[in-house]
Amino acid sequence: MDASEPFICASPGLQALLRDAARVAPTDATVVITGESGTGKSLLARWLHDHSRRAAEPFIVIDCGALPETLLEAELFGFERGAFTGASAAKAGRLEAAQRGTLVLDEVAALSPSAQAKLLRVIEERRVMRLGGTRLTSLDARLIAVTNLDLANAVARQAFRADLFHRFNVITLEAPPLRTRPGDIAPLARHFLKQVAERHRLPALALAPETSRILERYDFPGNVRELRHAMERAALTAVGKVIRPEHLPPRMTSAMALMRHATRKPTLAELESAYVREILQHVGWRKAEAARILGISRKNLYEKLRAYGIPYHPSDPPDDDASA
Ligand SMILES: Nc1ncnc2c1ncn2[C@@H]1O[C@H](COP(=O)(O)OP(=O)(O)OP(=O)(O)O)[C@@H](O)[C@H]1O
Ligand SMILES: [Mg+2]
Repeated sequence: MDASEPFICASPGLQALLRDAARVAPTDATVVITGESGTGKSLLARWLHDHSRRAAEPFIVIDCGALPETLLEAELFGFERGAFTGASAAKAGRLEAAQRGTLVLDEVAALSPSAQAKLLRVIEERRVMRLGGTRLTSLDARLIAVTNLDLANAVARQAFRADLFHRFNVITLEAPPLRTRPGDIAPLARHFLKQVAERHRLPALALAPETSRILERYDFPGNVRELRHAMERAALTAVGKVIRPEHLPPRMTSAMALMRHATRKPTLAELESAYVREILQHVGWRKAEAARILGISRKNLYEKLRAYGIPYHPSDPPDDDASA
C-alpha cells in the first residue's frame, strides 16, 4: 500500500469515522483501530500517519500475528550482540526504526504475555531497551494498535493485559463493515475499476446499473477487500467496457447468494433473474440447454431474458445505460 492510496468515503458512516480520525490524526494520542477483516483498518492507519505532523517521518508496520514469539520480540525491541544464540551483531528493533514517526502494531491481540509486558513498559517510560541490552533509548513514536478482535473481550478472557488495553484504549476508531454502508459500494467499485484499468492500460471500465444493484445488496463477508478482488477479476474478464453481472463471482450473483448473502430478502423476480443467469453461465449460454434445465420453452426463456435485461450472449453490448 503506498502513501498516495486515496480513502474513498461516500457513506455518512465512513465520513463520521474520517471526521473522528481527522481530529486525532495531528495529536500524538495512541489510537486503537478495530473492525472486521478487510474493512480498511490498515488503510486508516496509513491515513492517520499521512495526516499527522509525523507524515514525513518513518511509517513502520509490524504484523504481530505473523511472527513467532521469539522473533517478534527481537523484531520489536531489537537486540544487542550475544543477546541470544545467533545474535552475532546488534540490531535496532522496529520501535527504534519508528523514531519520530508512527509505529503500527497490526493484530495486536496476538502479542504474547511477555511482549505485552515489555511493550507496556516502553509505553509508560517512553524508552526502549534492546534484548540483552542495558542502555535505554528514549523513544518518540506514535503508536497505532490494530485488531479485528474485540480487545475488551480478550481482556475479559485474560488473553490481553488490562493495563496495556487501558493504555491503548484512549481513542478507538471502529471501521464499519461494508454491508452497513452500501453508499460506499459503487464509489469503491468504480475506484478499483479505475485503478485496474490504469495499471493494465485497459480502456475505462464502467459499472452496469444492474451490477451496482447486485453489489449494493450483497453482504460482503470479506468487506472492501472482497469488493476489490471482485472488481480486479471482473475488469480482466469483461469483454466490453462495461462490468455486467456475468463478470461478478457466482458467490455474489447466484440465486443461493441472494438467499444467503443479501442484506434484504430478495423478490421472486430477483431470484428468478439470478437463477436464469446462473444456469446460462453454467451451460455456456446455450439457450436450448438452459431452457431444458429450467423446465421452460426456449420461447419462454427468451421472454425472461428480455424481461430481466439479460443479454442473449455475455459479450453482447449492454442494452442498459452504464453509469460510471
Ligand atoms: N475506504 C477505502 N477507500 C479505498 N480503498 C479501501 C478503502 N477501504 C479499504 N480499501 C482497500 O481495501 C483493501 C482492504 O483494506 P485493509 O487492508 O485496510 O483492510 P484491513 O481492515 O486492514 O483488513 P485485515 O483485517 O485483513 O488486515 C485494501 O486494498 C485497501 O486499500
Ligand atoms: Mg490490515
